[in-house]
Amino acid sequence: MDRQRRLLVTGAGGFLGWTLCPLAARDWQVWGTYHRQPLKIPQTRLLRVDLTDPDQLQACFDQVRPDAVLHLAALSRPNDCELNPDYSYQVNVAASWRLADLCGAAGIPLVFTSSELVFDGRNPPYTETSPVCPLNRYGEHKVLAELGMGDRYPLATIARMPLMFGVASPQSESFLQPFLRQLRAGQPLRLFTDEIRMPVSAIVAASGLLLLLNHPGELFNLGGRDRLSRYDFGQLLTDVFNLSPALLSPCLQADVPMAAPRARDLTLDSSKAFALGYDPPTVRSQLAQLTSFSSMSDTPFP
Ligand SMILES: NC(=O)c1ccc[n+]([C@@H]2O[C@H](COP(=O)([O-])OP(=O)(O)OC[C@H]3O[C@@H](n4cnc5c(N)ncnc54)[C@H](OP(=O)(O)O)[C@@H]3O)[C@@H](O)[C@H]2O)c1
Repeated sequence: MDRQRRLLVTGAGGFLGWTLCPLAARDWQVWGTYHRQPLKIPQTRLLRVDLTDPDQLQACFDQVRPDAVLHLAALSRPNDCELNPDYSYQVNVAASWRLADLCGAAGIPLVFTSSELVFDGRNPPYTETSPVCPLNRYGEHKVLAELGMGDRYPLATIARMPLMFGVASPQSESFLQPFLRQLRAGQPLRLFTDEIRMPVSAIVAASGLLLLLNHPGELFNLGGRDRLSRYDFGQLLTDVFNLSPALLSPCLQADVPMAAPRARDLTLDSSKAFALGYDPPTVRSQLAQLTSFSSMSDTPFP
């Protein structure tokens, strides 16, 4: 691929963007947006953009003139969306629709990171044709974003992401960092035995999203291959990171009240993406790959 082609990555400063941008730079000239805090990302040109401001988004497009867009920016924590539904709508829905308008006008590939949380977890496994049934505001807003983007720009590609883990960005961490901090402090970690996910690392997710730039107008699940409860995941984590499994304490979703209701079993059938070459290794080997990163250490951020 031509190295000078420009890829615009929204939410580059977030957890996934931090890993994705340097990987994308192998094939693209990468431009990333950040929002509140300036940061540096290797091999990435960065612009400050509030995506809820149409003028700022337009100015960003005019400056970058992207050849393709990966839309990662979001209010990504379900509890935050439940507590701030209007802002969630502005970021997760309205800004996504505007991006679809801009990409449609330019006729360029657009891949949007939706979520497994468009499903309620009651009727797994979920394929790309399963009816959506979100349990919380975050999931509802991802559904609205998907539908409106497709209406505005039928060539937009939707990627339903699973739970992801990996290296923390300077501004955002995955669920792994608090787990590691707690275990390394010798504190017990309560983990659900009744919440099932098919997680992947940000490295694997990034590889899938870059692949989907070549598949306009389609919808894909980008789940992993291992079906694990949070407790199963904790057992793999303690094993790979050489931490005490005795600190893991099994519990049920019902034991922990949360602002946003939680889906129970989000088993995703991702065979459509596997057939394209998206090929997640086992979670154990993805975790092993992360042990060498300094930002997996006790401190939350590098
Ligand atoms: N992480 C997961 O396990 C997971 C699972 C399924 C789907 N996803 C989806 O995958 C994508 C990436 O997730 P992530 O974990 O990387 O999320 P993240 O760490 O929360 O990053 C999201 C980024 O979006 C930016 N953003 C928020 N509001 C913005 C605004 N008004 N204007 C411009 N930027 C704004 C945030 O910047 P500020 O913080 O400065 O506002 C943040 O850097 C999201 O679409 C998320 O919904 C994630």
